Formats: sequence, structure tokens, C-alpha cells
Amino acid sequence: MDSDRNPREVTPAKLSLVDNALSGVKLDPHLAVPRVHTPPAMFGAGGPMLKQFDQSNAASRVGSQAATPPRSVVGIGNKVAKPDYSEAKIVVAMVGLPARGKSYLSNKLMRYLKWLEYDVKVFNVGQLRRSRARQKAQESGKHEDHTASYFSHDNVEATRLRDQLATDSLDMLIQWLRDGGNVGIHDATNSTRSRRAKIEERVAQEKGFVTIFLESVCDDPALIAANVALKVSSGDPDYKDMSREEAKADFLRRIKQYEAVYETITEPHLSYLRIINVGNQVTVCRIHGYLQSRIAFYLMNLHLKPRSIFFSRHGESQYNVEGKIGGDSPLSERGQKYATALPALITDNIGDAPLTVWTSTLQRTILTAQHLPYNKLTWKSLDELDAGVCDGMTYEEIEHAYPDDFAHRDEDKFNYRYRGGESYRDVVVRLEPVIMELERQENILIIGHQAILRCLYAYFHNLPQADLPYIKIPLHTVIKLTPKAYGCDEERYTLPIGAVDTHRPKPGSSPQLQLSGTGREYYGEKA
Ligand code: SIN
Repeated sequence: MDSDRNPREVTPAKLSLVDNALSGVKLDPHLAVPRVHTPPAMFGAGGPMLKQFDQSNAASRVGSQAATPPRSVVGIGNKVAKPDYSEAKIVVAMVGLPARGKSYLSNKLMRYLKWLEYDVKVFNVGQLRRSRARQKAQESGKHEDHTASYFSHDNVEATRLRDQLATDSLDMLIQWLRDGGNVGIHDATNSTRSRRAKIEERVAQEKGFVTIFLESVCDDPALIAANVALKVSSGDPDYKDMSREEAKADFLRRIKQYEAVYETITEPHLSYLRIINVGNQVTVCRIHGYLQSRIAFYLMNLHLKPRSIFFSRHGESQYNVEGKIGGDSPLSERGQKYATALPALITDNIGDAPLTVWTSTLQRTILTAQHLPYNKLTWKSLDELDAGVCDGMTYEEIEHAYPDDFAHRDEDKFNYRYRGGESYRDVVVRLEPVIMELERQENILIIGHQAILRCLYAYFHNLPQADLPYIKIPLHTVIKLTPKAYGCDEERYTLPIGAVDTHRPKPGSSPQLQLSGTGREYYGEKA
């Protein structure tokens, strides 16, 4: 049989010949090929704590190692720079009547892209209108009337002013993109063909800039009513001096003014997405390019059905008790108790509603989910952050063996990648399909791991990358997130079953994280 084999094929027998031959070889220190079995001092990785990783790979790495190790490699890991997104310059111009979910979509898109580390900013024309009016009022004492008649196209002066505001807002957006931003969202009605033509023409003057129109159409009366109610009850600065009834009546009149001139997108030459009732139907036209396609794919997966997302870490594991990171250890006795108590907590909370449980492929999450009476799915992408050569070590052992690395990781935990393992950024990248699926699904319980749940939690609460590795996700606690129009409500349920505390606060910093609220953000505007 062997004679049929491709002579170039690497067989176990050939590998063992190479191994045997190499075991007797002493490499000349003057040769260009570095000695791989004793890493140079700058690697600092020769200690007894370094697991089999180095030794077992030594033979195969003799021939493949670069003459000079990459400069960023120091110690047992390295800080990996953020990918270069400087070429990405996208204007997302919203289109839609008032109360059709434009700001909701803008906000969701911004959160998603920021989680992926793009620089994103929303430019809201209504906000610019109000801030300019406030300024005028301060300077001249004259208060502009912004009730429904201001939005009538028969009001020539107001129409001129509104056109100017939309143009100025776009100019500010373009300047911001020139200064380094990646995706600027023009949050305005942009409801006529002529307005869209102006946007297209203006953006086309900028080399490498791309426009996508994102139309939000909503013909579901319940959804429109909910959006109107949200507008008049959310502290909208336009209605700060009105009763709710007056505000609602005025807002409905405003919508009528826009309806009189509204033109849905049909311009065949434009790049656009038209989303009907958020998630019911999506039309995609002329979407090209990597980031544009990702934006489209994300928006196609959104829905507005009420649901909750539950996060729980696995029950306390044997490795948790021993203070070790990584591995695939079973649950401790207390961890098993948590697994037994979890079904009652979840069923009390969710009642008869359907729920799906997602676990990683590691046994501590699967064992924690074992008694839950729901459909279960295992995701490789939900496996814990890979600590590479440090897998199975305690933090004390890592600090003792690799003090420089330990300090480097504390300095910039999000960007630090363990040798042979991952950084938090790597985890965010591999979790993107999970986020996409979470957006598509309804009630989901994820039984996961500390680093993984931190990344997912940061997405739902819009937390910055630097804070992400310090989010508190304690053992034996269920976190319930309920998505709302502009964020998530959160409840935490801690079961009275003791567990070790695996949280390491950022050295020398205050541990308080600022969660964003679920109300609509008026970007510093005072109602
Ligand atoms: C507004 O001024 O509130 C919205 C302006 C617009 O985009 O039509």
C-alpha cells in the first residue's frame, strides 16, 4: 500500500525519522537558523512552566521559522494592533418617514460596527436643527417654531432652512470621515429623490467614499403607534413643553407633512437597502464591497419581536477551584449543584415560552446545561478564550514564570494575544456569527465562559473595548437582557450556591463600568 502513496506525503513514519535525526543534532550557534528548542532570551519562554507546546513543535518549526521573529513577539504573547480600517469610508444615508425606526436602525448599526472596532458616528439632522435653534434663541432671544407647520413643504422659508441643515449635517459627516472616521450615518428623512440626488452628488466628490441609502419602511400600524408613543414619551426635546396628548397630535401632523412629498427609493442606479417592518422583507440593490455587504447582512438579520437573552457561565469547574485557566475540566461539587438548580430559575423566568440553550463544546458548559428541558445546540465559537501556552496554568504561575507578559496583558488586555492562543479581539472576531444568529433568534440562553460572555455582553450594552475584559460576569449568576428600542434592560439572578471569584480587576483602576441606558440618546441634548 505504501508504494501507492505520493512520495511527497508526510507520513507518521517519516516524521519519526526526522524527529530521531534531529534529536541528536546540535545546531551551530553561528548558523542563521535559530535554535528553536531553547528560545532566545527575548522570548522569555523557556521556563519549566511552558507546556509541551514548544517542544512538540520544535522539529516542524526548524524549517519554517522566519529568520527574524516578528517584531511584535515578546515573551509568551504579544499585543496585536487593531486592523487597519482606514480605507473604509461609508456614508449610510437613512431614508424614511418619521416614526419608521430610522434612529433605531442607525443606533443598532452603530453599536454593531463599533463592537467590530470601526469608527462610527451618527449625524442626526433633528439634533442639529435644535442645537442651531437654541443658539439663535440665545443670541437673538427669538424662539423658532418647530411644530408641525415647520415641516410643511408649503412653508418655503422653513423648507430652505431644513435643506440647509441636511446639507450642513452631511458636510460635517464628510469632514469627520476625512478626519479618520469609517462609517458616518446621516440620520434624516432624506425622503425625496432630489434630496438623495444631492447626497449622492456630494459624496461622489470625495475619493473612495461610498454611499448606501438605508430606507426603513413601516406599514404595521402597531409598530408605528409604538414608535410614536416612544417619541412623545422618551423626553424628546421637541416636545418638552407639551403634554403627551399635544405632543402626539403634533407629531402625527408632522408625519402627514412628510407623507405629502415622500418618494420611496426606486432610483435604480443607487446603492440601497429597503427594510420593511424591520426584518419582514428586505430589498438589496447594488451593494458591493466587504463592509457594505456586512452592513447589509447584519441589517437583514434584525427583528423586533420581544424576547430575552440569558447569559450564564458554566457552574464552578474543577479548574476554577484550583485557580487554573482554560482546560476542559468537569464541574466541581458546587458547580453540579448550580447545574441542578438552574432549570427552576430559568423556567420560573421564561414560563411556557420557547427557549433554546447554546453551549460551547467544552464539558463544563455542556454539564451545566444537562438538566435544562430545552433544545440545546453546541457552538465551537463559544469555546473560552484560548490561553495558548498558558492553558492550564494559574495566574500566579503565569506571573511568576512570565512577569513581563503578565504586566503587558494588564496594560492592554483587549489586544494581548497569548502565544498559540487568542486575544479578546480574536474572540470578538470569532463571535461575529454568534451575534448575527442571536439577532435572528428569539429567546436564547447561552451557557458560556467568562471572556466569551464579556464580549457578547459588551455588544448588547455598547461597552468600549478597553473596558470589555473587566466586565463582571460572576459564576452562578444568570444575566437576563431584554432588548429595547435603544439598548437592553438587565436583570441579574444569583443563586445562593457559593463559587470562587474569578474576576481580576484592572490594576489601579476603579472597577465601575458605565452601562448605556435603554432610552433614546439625544446626544447631550437637554430635554
Ligand atoms: C428633523 O428636523 O427633525 C428631521 C429633519 C429631516 O430629516 O427631515
